[in-house]
Amino acid sequence: MPKLYIETVGCQMNMLDSELVVASLRKQGYELVSTPQQADTILFNTCSVRQHAEDKIYSNLGRLKYEKKHNPHKIIGVLGCMAQKDQKLIFERAPYVDLVVGPGQLHQIPSLIEQISAGAGRQLEVSLDRTGGSRSAVEQSFESYDPLRDEQMRPSPYQAYVRIMIGCDKFCTYCIVPKVRGPEQSRPAAQIVAEVRRLADEGCREITLLGQTVNSYKHTVGGKTWRLSDLLHDLHEVEGIGRIKFVTNYPKDMTDELLHTVRDLPKCSHYLHVPVQSGSNEILRRMKRGYTVEEYREMLARIHSIIPDAAITSDFIVGFCGETDADYELSAELLREGRFKNTFIFKYSERPGTKGAELYADDVPEDVKRRRNNQLLDMQTIISDEDNQQMLGRKVEVLVEGPSKKQELGEGSLLQLTGRDNCDRIVVFDGQPRLIGQFLPVMIYDANAWTLFGTVVTNHAGPEVYSL
Ligand code: SAH
Ligand code: SF4
Ligand code: F3S
Repeated sequence: MPKLYIETVGCQMNMLDSELVVASLRKQGYELVSTPQQADTILFNTCSVRQHAEDKIYSNLGRLKYEKKHNPHKIIGVLGCMAQKDQKLIFERAPYVDLVVGPGQLHQIPSLIEQISAGAGRQLEVSLDRTGGSRSAVEQSFESYDPLRDEQMRPSPYQAYVRIMIGCDKFCTYCIVPKVRGPEQSRPAAQIVAEVRRLADEGCREITLLGQTVNSYKHTVGGKTWRLSDLLHDLHEVEGIGRIKFVTNYPKDMTDELLHTVRDLPKCSHYLHVPVQSGSNEILRRMKRGYTVEEYREMLARIHSIIPDAAITSDFIVGFCGETDADYELSAELLREGRFKNTFIFKYSERPGTKGAELYADDVPEDVKRRRNNQLLDMQTIISDEDNQQMLGRKVEVLVEGPSKKQELGEGSLLQLTGRDNCDRIVVFDGQPRLIGQFLPVMIYDANAWTLFGTVVTNHAGPEVYSL
């Protein structure tokens, strides 16, 4: 049996892509292994969003040089966003790489590996550049690819990612994603519903819908247009699915209709990731985000009034071109005021090929970026801790994902289990292994900034209420 090793970095899109690649190779008889040394085929699914992500991949690739020299039959492949961005440059920088495949061409991997094994030499398959043809030609060169699934590659057997759209057309000036992931295209609702039904039949309980701007979802068939809220209504009907999440939201597309849907459909998670990126209007303008801080604040207020218990998370970029201390202070103020459940904070990393790199100088010194990054992180930790303390004595509904660390599944014994509540908070508690994969009520008795600790509530509801 041929052996496959795969390493994945980047966002949930990449996690899902790796799952699909593994499923397609398993169909060819491949078996997954946990080290590159054991493998016949070594794949890296890559990310280009920041320089750091790319450096890490090139350094990991570098370590395989020796491996390849001693085992020349091993096939080494670079997949995903960096493959689309760097293309044949990867062969130049790492001449022992055999395969380069962009995110829109992953369906070709089994046959490309076959060709390489048969002696055809290096293979490169990428999609058209954004300016490399007509809109529809470029769209077609990014194949949506979601047929086969692989349980072992999922966050847990009870949770799955489901792509509802690919690509992005927002072209924020700092961002490489529209270039490497191609034009925004939504998948037909019926196809998504069928996929979710299959996942539910396989035992999946929670789905996370994926799109770079997931709430911009729009698909028209036979004169009827589906928006995300319509899709949520359809998916809510799927038996077996108990929780539906979606990421990532674009602030301007957070409509009242969507918020009402999330409020009204009990399976919808009240976790909303809506990145703001900066608290300064001047920086937002230069980022071409398409909204002002006032509009973002207004959106936050709308979320809170429609879904009072919503847990909102955000992304901030610090040190974007020309960001002054005053601009940064505005971000800090927004972070304090927003009381996000969590924020992801990134130091600006210039991406060649973006408008930002072309128009503005990356002029904030690294140590200033680092300081701003650390300050925001510290502020967020305090907020997360304070807000988690508010959870003490409250009951939350947890989908049990599995043992909290690597633990033996001893028969009948109690384990430390982990799961998430309806607002995506991590909850740790003791319980029987048979609870894994179920929704159950947990009473919170302790908390820190990252985790809630609780006890399973056993005295008032039978399993028929909580196991779907
Ligand atoms: N589509 C999503 C996320 C895209 S990438 C969205 O629109 O929110 C995830 C996050 O990486 C972004 O939200 C942004 O905060 C960050 N990011 C993107 N490009 C970056 C860059 N060049 N440097 C630093 N951070 C970046
Ligand atoms: Fe990048 Fe902006 Fe698209 Fe998000 S919306 S993927 S940040 S271009
Ligand atoms: Fe990275 Fe590509 Fe996702 S650049 S963040 S893996 S879409």
